[in-house]
Amino acid sequence: MKTESQTFIVTGGASGLGEATTRELVSRGANVVIADLNEEAGAALAKELGESVRFVRCDVTSGEQVQAAVETSEKEFGGLAGSVNCAGIAIVQKLLDRDNNPADLDKFNKGVQINLTGSFNVARLVASSIAKRVATEGGPNNEDQGIIINTASIAAFDGQVGQASYSSSKSGVVGMMLPLARELTRHGIRVMTIAPGIFATPMMAGLPEKAQEQLKASVPYPKRLGDPTEFAKLVAHIIENAYLNADVIRLDGAIRMT
Ligand SMILES: NC(=O)c1ccc[n+]([C@@H]2O[C@H](COP(=O)([O-])OP(=O)(O)OC[C@H]3O[C@@H](n4cnc5c(N)ncnc54)[C@H](O)[C@@H]3O)[C@@H](O)[C@H]2O)c1
Repeated sequence: MKTESQTFIVTGGASGLGEATTRELVSRGANVVIADLNEEAGAALAKELGESVRFVRCDVTSGEQVQAAVETSEKEFGGLAGSVNCAGIAIVQKLLDRDNNPADLDKFNKGVQINLTGSFNVARLVASSIAKRVATEGGPNNEDQGIIINTASIAAFDGQVGQASYSSSKSGVVGMMLPLARELTRHGIRVMTIAPGIFATPMMAGLPEKAQEQLKASVPYPKRLGDPTEFAKLVAHIIENAYLNADVIRLDGAIRMT
């Protein structure tokens, strides 16, 4: 699918990997609806990028709010071609604390709710919008009609101590990809997943300096954190390469977390 003149929802599009994706897609002539909880950053980015971008304050776990983002795409730009789901949070908590007290269940659930259920919520509403549009146009014609790109993490495969919520939510994102891709073949919609390694985003900036240095040193090559523009370029390639479907691409400088 060409990127130019198409419309995409980018969740988490106000920061980090989502912001870089928004900028990349707009630079290639696409329209973007940024769906993010961060109203200040999202509205500022939409204003900076101009007419081809809208911001909708949206919690990816809310059916109503994601549907509002879908309807904004339809009304403002005439219909959706896909979504790039970058909204996510990193929960860190061990199963047992120092005194062997059990982990907080609500904290575990919050990570799964936003990272996994949120991805499914966005996928169902975006796919419905695309499938309905395609049906009114006479059905799929063996050409790309839409694309859903989700963001997992290498923690889906190489989870570390304290990452039970994060790793299981991200491996859930990987797990749901194949059934969704199989179901959506009849609508001409592809489903792909990117599993980033360690990227220099505000999420990572929240870690202590020492932890960041250790992370950088652990990347085999190139020996640095990933640049969000490298993630965004992969998103654009996935959109434009019609033979990529139902696959997870690790983007990680060869890191395997110990
Ligand atoms: N940065 C990394 O190293 C890295 C590595 C692997 C995976 N990831 C994944 O990539 C995605 C983007 O991460 P990032 O580093 O850009 O983070 P980030 O914190 O810079 O951006 C995340 C964005 O998501 C938004 N968000 C959070 N919860 C939301 C919700 N419920 N509804 C809507 N928006 C919400 C935030 O407001 C923020 O703008 C996440 O899913 C993260 O798990 C990041």
